[in-house]
Amino acid sequence: MINNRSALTHTETLFRPLLELNSAYIYIGAGIATGVIAGVDAIDGTSLATPSLIAGGLIGTGLVKLINAFPLMKRQIGLYVNKLEFIDIEIVRFLNRWKDNSDVTQFAFKEKREIYIGNGFEWEPEHAQRAYQIMDMTSNLKEMEIPFALKPYINKYKKSTKAMGGKTWIHAIGNEERQLVHEEAFFGHSFITGQVGSGKTTLLRMLGTGFLHLGHSLIIIDPKDDKQLKNGIIDEMKALGIFDKFYEFCPARPSESCSIDILKNFATPAEIPTRIASLLKSGKTGSDTFIDFGWQTISQITDGMIYCHEAPKLTEIYRYMRSGKSELLEKVMSVFYERKFGAHWREQEMPKMLEMGESLIEGMVAYYTTRIPSTEKVAAVDDVIQFVTHNHEHAQKMLASVFPLFKVLCTNPLNKLLSPNRETDDVNKIIDIKRVILDGGVIYCALNSLNDPKTAGQLAKLLLADISSCLGDRYNYGDGKERRVSILVDEVHAAVAGNDALLNNLAQGRAAGAQFILSTQSIPDLVDMTDQATAERYLALCNNFISMKVTDKTTQEYVSAQFNQTNIQTVGVQYSIQSATGQALTEFSGGYKENITKTREDMFPPNLLADLPKLQYVARLANGQKLKCKLPIIQGA
Ligand SMILES: Nc1ncnc2c1ncn2[C@@H]1O[C@H](COP(=O)(O)OP(=O)(O)OP(=O)(O)O)[C@@H](O)[C@H]1O
Ligand SMILES: [Mg+2]
Repeated sequence: MINNRSALTHTETLFRPLLELNSAYIYIGAGIATGVIAGVDAIDGTSLATPSLIAGGLIGTGLVKLINAFPLMKRQIGLYVNKLEFIDIEIVRFLNRWKDNSDVTQFAFKEKREIYIGNGFEWEPEHAQRAYQIMDMTSNLKEMEIPFALKPYINKYKKSTKAMGGKTWIHAIGNEERQLVHEEAFFGHSFITGQVGSGKTTLLRMLGTGFLHLGHSLIIIDPKDDKQLKNGIIDEMKALGIFDKFYEFCPARPSESCSIDILKNFATPAEIPTRIASLLKSGKTGSDTFIDFGWQTISQITDGMIYCHEAPKLTEIYRYMRSGKSELLEKVMSVFYERKFGAHWREQEMPKMLEMGESLIEGMVAYYTTRIPSTEKVAAVDDVIQFVTHNHEHAQKMLASVFPLFKVLCTNPLNKLLSPNRETDDVNKIIDIKRVILDGGVIYCALNSLNDPKTAGQLAKLLLADISSCLGDRYNYGDGKERRVSILVDEVHAAVAGNDALLNNLAQGRAAGAQFILSTQSIPDLVDMTDQATAERYLALCNNFISMKVTDKTTQEYVSAQFNQTNIQTVGVQYSIQSATGQALTEFSGGYKENITKTREDMFPPNLLADLPKLQYVARLANGQKLKCKLPIIQGA
């Protein structure tokens, strides 16, 4: 065999019959026979020395042949046998060097800050060659002769191999090793695709556990409330002695849930209406006059609240919108006059105002519009006046989609969970995302999308927007040495519509020491919830792309394109026999021709992605690696 792959005559014989095994049988058999015959002869008094030596030599040679056959035997078993694999958490901790890596209050680059992501190999041109070679065979690979001795083993795992689905051989064509990936590679963000049950959440658990071992703060948004994922993280935190830093946000079990003051963090007041309006967008982006009107109304109210030093809360915005118009106007006007005329404005100016309208509030507005010069007017006051004086019927009609949204977010249990009151509620149960990010810990948001996918999507967006704002702060004012934060979002398609905050975060997250791991079933899911251009932006902003089994063409082709192309060699054989009519019957000529052709093909064929068994994936990482991996399930935490 010529080892240089670029040589035209290079061939591989990975799938040849196991000839070493046959000769091992013969040698060992001959050795045993010699021993037995010598033993019988010994009864007659013949010396045993020479035959024993020969028997030993034969058995020894047989054993050497068996050892030589072992690597190929292992690979050939791998072509037919697959089963769930497990890894002990102690080994994962050891591989991730949690003792050295987890104790970080300040981030510093270290070469050994790596995490374990599964067992696999770099997918190189030779693997592509082998894959194309096998794809040319019949579906049960009967061109390969399985050694008789391996058949019982293969039969034993028939059921588990079937349960794992897909084509077992894809992983068996490479030499598997434990794969560790450096932390830096993840800070380019990661995108995971995979159809239902293919192993996305199991991978998130492996990665989340790894980031815990690196001392990251962790925020997990899990719309499915997956018990495996949550319990996996909880068990590991308990084992590491950091369970006191586990915070769960879980609307389905309000009594156990922490609260998050969801509008607490914002850089500019305009962020708040944008956040809320984004919840109304459920599909393609584009302008919608109802959403724009909703944005404007929320913006007018929040501007007024901020002007009066009131912290914007969903419940309060809703109250002002529904029935607190005059209350807000009076508050804003009072603050304005107090700032302008001082604490005694009521005695000095109020009588004049009372004369200017039928009620005090009308007078206050009339005074403001007629007597205050435009240079002294304040945008927040103008906003609230506009909000209050807008035609009531028209506003009600335009806000028809906004009211139901607020109703959901502001009634039990979400009112307490999203707009907690520090004076009346248990402060220990109110999470400050900024604090957790800084001090370390895990915020686990279980959103229970199975019962109410719409609200789960809206909550995911609100949470991501709040996280964005905290990260924005780090980006603007941080020194780049803060504790790193990993944000894992399962089923991310539910949270992408109109979510500019998430896109901005992906663009700036690295500088804020934050990395996102987003998972969804397929690329078309993303396109459905946004549009082609936005979906492409999401993908372009994630430098790591990991795909489990996917069956749709778009995702398959995208994944395959990450792997580039390579030269694939095919061997053609031509036989010919000729005889001419004018010649004697015995005169004929024959020929045999082999030709080798090389064609450019996908290094990872798209349709092979539909054949990946459960818990297997391919990955193109930010550091340039292209991996084919098998994912063991963590056990023993
Ligand atoms: N501890 C375990 N024991 C046995 N099987 C497991 C275990 N953990 C995961 N699995 C199996 O691994 C497969 C992948 O599960 P996982 O939840 O990771 O898939 P998923 O891609 O997230 O699916 P979904 O889209 O439904 O959320 C499932 O078939 C599951 O049965
Ligand atoms: Mg899942």
